Amino acid sequence: MVCLGNICRSPLAQGILESKVNSNNVFVDSAGTSGFHEGALPDPRSILVAQKYNIDITDQQSRKFIVSDFDEFDIIYAMDKSNLLNIQSLARNDEDLSKVKLILNELQDSKNNEVPDPYYGGDNGFENVYEMLEKACDNIVSKLQ
Ligand code: 4NP
Repeated sequence: MVCLGNICRSPLAQGILESKVNSNNVFVDSAGTSGFHEGALPDPRSILVAQKYNIDITDQQSRKFIVSDFDEFDIIYAMDKSNLLNIQSLARNDEDLSKVKLILNELQDSKNNEVPDPYYGGDNGFENVYEMLEKACDNIVSKLQ
């Protein structure tokens, strides 16, 4: 799960997907295309909205997406088009490229909808992001099964 800062959207996406899969079978992680918040906890507003749905994301720490993530992961979900492009620009070959997807295309295929960046908005933005990611993760889990 990849966004810009790895403190708002992708930590939520990680926590939600982790809550829906068996960790013995599926490894979920998140990262940011920027290193702006390296080492930081998720944004308090992400922590709160996750807690509202009984998901604890306080064990997460922001990190930057690195090229070797293409080797570690089978699917790389970008939260928006800008991050999709940034990840794609790091791809070394077609196999790397084929792993990178927009997460909301799991809800509406090929629509290229984006998870809006809630960083500069109010708390409602985080609830909105949560609800989108929750639905997208349900579809991801159905596909995995
Ligand atoms: P995220 O949100 O990409 O969902 O983690 C942001 C967090 C920080 C910044 C931008 C977006 N920032 O500019 O610091």
